[in-house]
Formats: sequence, structure tokens, C-alpha cells
Amino acid sequence: MPDTAQAPAWHVDAAKYEEMYKASIADPEAFWGEEGKRLDWIKPYSKVKNVDFGYPDVSIKWYEDGTLNVASNCVDRHLEKRGDQTAIIWEPDDPSAPAQHIRYSELHENVCRMANVLKAQGVGKGDRVVIYLPMIPEAAYAMLATARIGAVHSIVFAGFSPDALANRINDCDAKVVITADEAPRGGRKTALKSNTDAALLHCKDRVKCLVVKHTGGQTTWTEGRDIDVKAEMAAASTDCAPEEVGAEDPLFILYTSGSTGKPKGVVHTSGGYLVYAAMTHQYTFDYHDGDIFWCTADVGWVTGHSYIIYGPLANGATTLMFEGVPTYPDASRFWQVCEKHKVNQFYTAPTAIRALMGQGSEFVEKCDLSSLRLLGTVGEPINPEAWNWYNDVVGKGKCPIVDTWWQTETGGHLITPLPGAIETKPGSATKPFFGVHPVILDPTSGEEITETEAEGVLCIKDSWPGQMRTVYGDHERFVSTYFEQYKGYYFSGDGCRRDADGYYWITGRVDDVINVSGHRMGTAEVESALVAHSSVAEAAVVGYPHDIKGQGIYAYVTLMNGIEPTEDLRKELEKWVRSEIGPIAKPDLIQWAPGLPKTRSGKIMRRILRKIAEDDFGALGDTSTLAEPAVVEDLIDNRMNRK
Ligand code: WTA
Repeated sequence: MPDTAQAPAWHVDAAKYEEMYKASIADPEAFWGEEGKRLDWIKPYSKVKNVDFGYPDVSIKWYEDGTLNVASNCVDRHLEKRGDQTAIIWEPDDPSAPAQHIRYSELHENVCRMANVLKAQGVGKGDRVVIYLPMIPEAAYAMLATARIGAVHSIVFAGFSPDALANRINDCDAKVVITADEAPRGGRKTALKSNTDAALLHCKDRVKCLVVKHTGGQTTWTEGRDIDVKAEMAAASTDCAPEEVGAEDPLFILYTSGSTGKPKGVVHTSGGYLVYAAMTHQYTFDYHDGDIFWCTADVGWVTGHSYIIYGPLANGATTLMFEGVPTYPDASRFWQVCEKHKVNQFYTAPTAIRALMGQGSEFVEKCDLSSLRLLGTVGEPINPEAWNWYNDVVGKGKCPIVDTWWQTETGGHLITPLPGAIETKPGSATKPFFGVHPVILDPTSGEEITETEAEGVLCIKDSWPGQMRTVYGDHERFVSTYFEQYKGYYFSGDGCRRDADGYYWITGRVDDVINVSGHRMGTAEVESALVAHSSVAEAAVVGYPHDIKGQGIYAYVTLMNGIEPTEDLRKELEKWVRSEIGPIAKPDLIQWAPGLPKTRSGKIMRRILRKIAEDDFGALGDTSTLAEPAVVEDLIDNRMNRK
């Protein structure tokens, strides 16, 4: 641990936080007008905020008359001062393979080359590019190259199945998909190219497939459609003028799960998103010039977008990108990488912390973690036991922990401690970030609870620049999902408690979204995958508490008449869901349910199914509205043992 004398002073202290927070709420125009200057604008904005949260005419615009290019803000503008500084440290899955240090000047060259490759395929401003890549430098090049030419990327997590990939390519009507031959993770390889081949069978013929030959693994090749990215990049020019885009032009689409229907394409735009990602990266992580920042997320999730790529690079930071997993070759990998690259800020998910805690502290203690100055978590509530282990064993009691609450929809942190300014409490995301006005509403009346101590649903009263603008191709769905139930507010879908000190404690989703190992999933998606199997008549999926994953997936399955429930069928259904959605959606427990509890009008009573999955039968509540109360007895008698 560096002496406190050597560590830089925190960006803000308690008094400064109070002062800035008050100013940000009192006069958002002035506050964000000033903050917007952290970017380089081609044409400066004159209008800062133009927001209407009023149902049904929701409209959100920030810096609307300004123009810029996101990639030049993340790369070009740093060249003069820090062209030789490392922009990206890439640590491969295999610890014996060399790490790469990509300087800002090299990043610039590669982004320009990749941008020219995209242009040569006819990709232009506003066109959609789907990225289905492992955690390799080319993923960063692809994102920034897309932004450079004013196109819009949509990253699909490499753990998703061909079906999920095809749905996303089709929903956003992408012109190209960028993939790799294989994705190595934890010593195993996923065949991304063959997944992409399978997906493209369900897409328009014109979709081009750009392939990064990463492992050299064998792939089938479709002439005229498949393009060798590395070969094309090597031949392409390192010159590519950045396209001027409007602040409100889309930067990316990211599909995320909701409580109903298929995943929705969350749209983020260029100006406000980048201001917000950069600002939160600087303040929440107390980033200073020269620091080495590591966010362990995958670029397939929003955390990877905002805190591996856009936030850090907009700030001219050194960001670490890790291809592997926390437990390969063993449970000390994270800490070895911290030691090797002298990481200063480390940001991960509670599920990883719990898994590593279970392996024992010796894996941490054998590494030199003296470079660490701050630790962060994201994705789900962190239980105090894991928080304390993180604090004591990893942080040696000297690193503030920032428990950051936010969502794909919010673009960046909304509720989080700021180190040096806000005292932490294990399990609390503490206080709102600048410009964020959280409120707790009574779930039934929708009234704001104004007492400091409160519990209810978490809404946000006014916009912040990083907020999503719409659902791709379906603005109505945007309005009805986030603005209809509680009029005049952005509804987060999370429950929340505020304590006597005004600290916020997120209690989890109040809708049918579950959070499995920090991955967000709609129970409806898993259900529709199950019922697509010919043996399944009906399925209901709920979450249940799981020691490592936070929540596990519990599926109640009613089979077609005449189909016998067998262990083989159970395995087949698990495999089926993996192939329909991806490994992260595989049910942990499948219970055969001869019947599901329904109201007389035929609605499945999930509240009851959740209680059974949680082993909490005392609290089943009112079952008098059930069409067949005996169904519940059967489900309780035959419930699965939680692992
Ligand atoms: C949950 C991830 C408690 C929450 C950035 C939210 C959290 C959902 C926290 C969004 C946290 C995220 N404490 N819960 N610090 N961070 N969540 O869209 O339920 O993948 O609504 O974005 O994760 O998940 P998403």
C-alpha cells in the first residue's frame, strides 16, 4: 500500500460533494453545461437540457445542438500529450502468453484501420454493426471504429447462443457482424465463428461477416460473405477522418432483459452518454492521471461499455482488458493480474467476490496487492459477508469500496459512494451521484415518500445525460416500460430502502427480472425457451437465493400429456435452454409440476412459486383466489433441494 502521503488527494471530500450535489440539483443546466466541456466538441452546444418525463410524450435530449465524434474524444485528442502512454493493457486467458500494451498512438492506428475496413464494406453513418467478440483488443477497435464513422454498434455477449445472436442482428437490421474464430476462456474455447454461421442462416443474405482470426482454430469459410479482418486491417490505411455526429445521434444499442417479451434494444446517444461515462469514471473511482484501472466485466455488458472503454478512454486512462476468468488457472488469477500490472482501481461483481471468498484467503494473500487504492462492485446487492472479506482480505482495510448501483438504461453510476467524500456501510450503495435525484415511491399509491426513512420502489425524478433515450425501433415500449406506471418519473424496476442517514439500500428487482451472477435475465425469456421444447406444455420460472450466483434459476415445468418425467429429459431441457439462449440461462433446478397455481382467470401466481422456491411456505399469503389449491400442496411436497 502506498503511503497516504504518496497517494493523490481524493477528487472530492464530504463538503465538496454536498456543495456540488446541491448545485447539480438546483441548476442542472448550469451544472451539466459546465461538465459537458470535458469533451471536445466539433460544434459546441448552446442548449444543455431538453427533457420531458411527462407520459406519454417522453423525450430526452442533452447538448442537442452540439456535434462531436466519440472516437476522437477517446483517442485522437490524447495523441499529442499521451501518444506513447498505454491506453489498453490486454491480459490474455493463458497466463503464460504475453500481455499487450497498446499505446494511444497504436490504438489510433488500429481504430482507423478497422474503420476503413468497415467503410469498405459499405458501412456508413447510422448503420448498425453487431459485435460478437471475445475480450480481445479487436473488440475495442471495433467499438471505436464504429463510432469513428458515425455507425452504431450492438455488442452481443460471446456467451449467447446462435439464436440470441440472430435475433439481435435481425432486430437492429445490422449490415455486418464482427466475430472471431474462437473465444478462449478458462482454458476452453467457444466456437464463435460457427455460432455466427448458425445465426446467419436466419438473417438477411446481405449481412457480411468480419472474422478476427484470434486462435487460428479451424472455421468454415463462406466466400463473398466472410472477411478476414486482420488481413484487411493490415492492408488498410491508418488515416480515417472522424465523422461529425450530433450529440443525440445513437452511439450504441445494447439488448437487455425486461419483465416481458423479448430483450429490448437500449439506445444510448453520443454526447450525454460520453460526458456521463467519463465523469462517473473519474469521480467514483477517483481516477488520476497515470493510474491503472481494471474493470473485470465483459464488453458485452454495459459495465464493459462504460468502464472498460468509453469512460476510461475519454479520460485518457490506462484501462485493463482481461480475456479470462477469475478461477483460471486457479483462484488467484485476479490478484496475480493486479500484482503483475500494478492495478490501482479494481472493479468487479459480487458474484465473483463470493466465489473467490469460498476458495479461501490464501489465494489473495500470496499476491502483492500494494498498488490497489480503491475497490468497486456492481451488478447486484453485495452481502455484508462478501463486502467485509473484500474490504479486509483484498483491500487490507485501506481501500474504500464503491458499491455502484446503476443499470444498462442509466449509462453510468446513479447511486454510489464517492471515495473520500461518503462514508460507506457494507451493503449500501449510499448516496446519489451528482445530478441524480432518486425518490422512493409507495408501490401502490405511487406517492413519493418524503420521510428520510422509507421503503418502496426506486424512481428517478429528473434526467441525467447518460440516460437511455429510447428502445430501438419501439419508442412506445420505452415509454410504457419506464414512464407509465409511475407518471412523471423514470421507474428503475428496483426496490429500495432509505435509512435514517439518507443512505440507499437496493433490495432487488420488483418485476420478473432475475439477476444470476450479475447477469440480468427476464424469467419470461427462459419460460419461452422451455415451452419451445416439444415435451413441454407449460413453464414458470422464478429466482431463488443462491450462495454464489446471488439468484439461481428455478423452473417449474408441466410436461405434455403422456410424456414421462425422467432424469434424461431434465438434462435435455437444461441443454435446450443453453442452446436457445446461452449457458447463463440454464435452469439450476427443474421441478416437474403436474399443475401450476393459477387464478380463476388463468394467471400464474408467481408470488407463490417464488415462495416455494425460497422454501418459505409460511408466507404463501392468500391462496383463496386459486383455481385449484391442491396444486400448491403437490408443489411443496415435491420441491427441489436448493443447492
Ligand atoms: C442490479 C448493470 C444492487 C439492479 C450495471 C439493477 C444492483 C440491475 C447494483 C441492472 C448494486 C446493479 N446493488 N443491485 N450495486 N448494480 N444492480 O442492466 O437490480 O445488467 O436494476 O446493469 O442490476 O442490471 P444491468
